[in-house]
Amino acid sequence: FMTTRIIGTGSAVPEQVVTNEDLARLVDTSDEWIRTRTGIKERRIASAESGTSDLAIQAAKEALNHAGVSAEELDIIILATSSADCCFPSGACEVQAAIGALHAAAFDISAACSGFVYALNTVHGFFKAGIYQTGLVIGADTLSKLIDWNDRSTCVLFGDGAGAAVVRAEEKGILHTVMGADGTRGKVLECGGRTTGNFLTGKKPELGYMTMDGQEVFKFAAKTVPESIKRVVEESGTAMEEIKYFILHQANYRIFESIAKRLKIPMEKFPTNLDRYGNTSGATIPILLDEMNREGKFQRGDKIVLAGFGAGLTWGATLLEW
Ligand code: ACO
Repeated sequence: FMTTRIIGTGSAVPEQVVTNEDLARLVDTSDEWIRTRTGIKERRIASAESGTSDLAIQAAKEALNHAGVSAEELDIIILATSSADCCFPSGACEVQAAIGALHAAAFDISAACSGFVYALNTVHGFFKAGIYQTGLVIGADTLSKLIDWNDRSTCVLFGDGAGAAVVRAEEKGILHTVMGADGTRGKVLECGGRTTGNFLTGKKPELGYMTMDGQEVFKFAAKTVPESIKRVVEESGTAMEEIKYFILHQANYRIFESIAKRLKIPMEKFPTNLDRYGNTSGATIPILLDEMNREGKFQRGDKIVLAGFGAGLTWGATLLEW
């Protein structure tokens, strides 16, 4: 039966670079604090003219070009985002319109930093069921609009960006997937939407900003990510040593160190671009995947694990053969 193979990748980040020194002029922080606690040196921040959909569209066009697939061939587009520009239409529909994917179903998935893995695993379900053959999976976020830029405990962590992958139903590709969620711990990483406000309440809707209990998120990631990696690898009958790369959601370098230690896997197998982009939420995994793909890091048959974790709380992993 058919599985899911990534046949092209693309990514896009805003031009504007914001360094740790730039942020030290905005809030009481320092390059040293940010680098040593997170591994981040700089991030990209979107301009007023560009939003989540613009970045998603750029990444999508690049991925289609790279795959040599035309937009008309797409059966499905899933955009993973927690910072869509509109409540509706969805960002996926905006991408569909911009690229001219006239035959594709299109919708967004909200699973925060696990979003790309959730979206990829969802397309995989459609492929395995024989419903669709060609898809576009995008992770795109502009968390810069959800951040309280006076809150040093969160504003130093995030950046904006998008990454995309064109996928096709083929005989080799995804070997196994896992996904999970624990909504009871949702409060540790939260961003309110519009509050209720109407003629009855006499209130105008208000918008929320992101809040985070950093240490709880760290503990969650350090425990749950190794578990989900173990599951996705072991349940597929693969040995941990066979995995060439573990492409993790890029949240914090210290989280990688803790996961690598727990799994007894050398740090070289955990590639990172966190220093240049910070945490771009749903976009981190596909941006890194695209960079590595274009650098020729993947050979046919390589086994790779993608692992996401984030607000919800949510987590997910994908084991694939390149
Ligand atoms: N600059 C300087 N000082 C700071 C900053 C900052 N940017 N932010 C916080 N501090 C201060 C705090 O106020 C505190 O000061 P105090 O001791 O006087 O009260 C001190 O630094 C220590 O704060 P902690 O929160 O205990 O710092 P910690 O060592 O836990 O590091 C961090 C914070 C980096 C956020 C860490 O908890 C972490 O990495 N958590 C994981 C969270 C994460 O990666 N979230 C990403 C989003 S979630 C996701 O993508 C899944």
